[in-house]
Amino acid sequence: MHCRSCLKGDFWACESPLATGISTDGGYAEYMVARMEVLTQIPTELSSVEAAPLLCAGATTLGAMKSSIAKGGDLIAIHGLGGLGHLGIQFAVRLGFKVAVISRGEEKEELARKLGAQIYIDSNKQIPSQELMKMGGAKAIFCTAPNSKAISELVSGLARGGQLVIITFANEPMQISPVELMRAVRSVSGWIGGNAADTLNFSVLTHVVPMIEEYPLEQAATAFEKMMKAKVHFRAVLKISEG
Ligand SMILES: NC(=O)c1ccc[n+]([C@@H]2O[C@H](COP(=O)([O-])OP(=O)(O)OC[C@H]3O[C@@H](n4cnc5c(N)ncnc54)[C@H](OP(=O)(O)O)[C@@H]3O)[C@@H](O)[C@H]2O)c1
Repeated sequence: MHCRSCLKGDFWACESPLATGISTDGGYAEYMVARMEVLTQIPTELSSVEAAPLLCAGATTLGAMKSSIAKGGDLIAIHGLGGLGHLGIQFAVRLGFKVAVISRGEEKEELARKLGAQIYIDSNKQIPSQELMKMGGAKAIFCTAPNSKAISELVSGLARGGQLVIITFANEPMQISPVELMRAVRSVSGWIGGNAADTLNFSVLTHVVPMIEEYPLEQAATAFEKMMKAKVHFRAVLKISEG
């Protein structure tokens, strides 16, 4: 449950956040009480299970992309192919971007391309910033992988005027050369949250579908443990039995 400020993407600035699972208990329950102005209607085209990941991972990635400086036709990159990344690729393709995905190892290339990415950069074998610069640099890079060092190294893969958008929680400080920013007028910014209703509508209109592992409510502990070990592809959703 989010209050009005949270829904505007201003969760951390909110003085009374009501987000279950973060500051308020009661998320894993059949029933809950919520203020009506903070509710969002799930479109009939989506099941509640499909809609669930769109309300956070989806809203965040779509919001970050729509508010970035990148426009349709631009090359953008998505760093990390997990819960946020797999939705990010789908949104980016539908927004008309040329999409490069940066991930570790060869295993995720097939999925990245299946989801619509034109370019796959294996950061175990290639230097992502160099690969991006061979194509002229990315107008925006959306960082979902929680690794400050890897994020810092991406700055030099930005095109002139390009924007690094951080949407991951990575606690270590980043180390970025001021010259790398200055000489190509690059910038670094952050993004949090997004608009749930817009994201649901956009997803229905453009057929964005999250990849989900579904668990009954009774197995919440198992789902939580798997999620914490990053073993879920790509979102664990608790299904509450109807009846
Ligand atoms: N800004 C917001 O409002 C917002 C909203 C929701 C979530 N988040 C945050 O966003 C982050 C990502 O969430 P998620 O659900 O997408 O997590 P996730 O499913 O665990 O995905 C993260 C991905 O990053 C990859 N990765 C890790 N280190 C990497 C590196 N050095 N290079 C390339 N890829 C790397 C991992 O790939 P491997 O398979 O190689 O490990 C994994 O697939 C989390 O910190 C989460 O808390 C932010």
